[in-house]
Amino acid sequence: MEKNLVLIGMMGSGKSTIGRIIAKSTKLKFYDVDKIIENENNLQISEIFKKKGEDYFRDLEERTSVKILKSSKSIISLGGGAFLNDKIRNEIKINSISVWLKWSSNILIKRIINSKTRPIVNKLSEKELIKLIDNRSKIYSKADYKIICDKLNKDKIIKKILEIYKNEKNNSKN
Ligand code: S3P
Repeated sequence: MEKNLVLIGMMGSGKSTIGRIIAKSTKLKFYDVDKIIENENNLQISEIFKKKGEDYFRDLEERTSVKILKSSKSIISLGGGAFLNDKIRNEIKINSISVWLKWSSNILIKRIINSKTRPIVNKLSEKELIKLIDNRSKIYSKADYKIICDKLNKDKIIKKILEIYKNEKNNSKN
């Protein structure tokens, strides 16, 4: 299959960890867009936010995500805010299948609330984060596939993504 498989969802949903494992087991290339931004700019995401501001980061995120989405046969993990960007969503439609790793907000909050590396978390209260998750979920729901992760362990989530990948691969042969 030529298409990429793109993992989307909130911070703390496991996109990077799971993406890396899926890439290993499918022997496909793995791209973690946040890591690429950090390497290309020699700065951590939190430092980019601090030094240049969120708008600057979002612009970098758009350009880097669109560039990476032009790959093929790859597993791509996007940053939590990337799917909200129309240009990125449109690029995904061209040659990628999107999978939303959906978790309840209480689980996500527990995972990210103490994060030192996520500037979005630092600037919002718990109540505001819940609102952000609700608002974003309306857009995340435009993904091609949704996996409700709350009651699944990591292996089961991986299994589900591999099933999606296999089905898409078989369908693309027809
Ligand atoms: C963000 C999520 C982060 C990173 C940045 C902004 C967001 O990525 O891109 O801190 O707006 O949700 P992860 O989802 O990989 O943590």
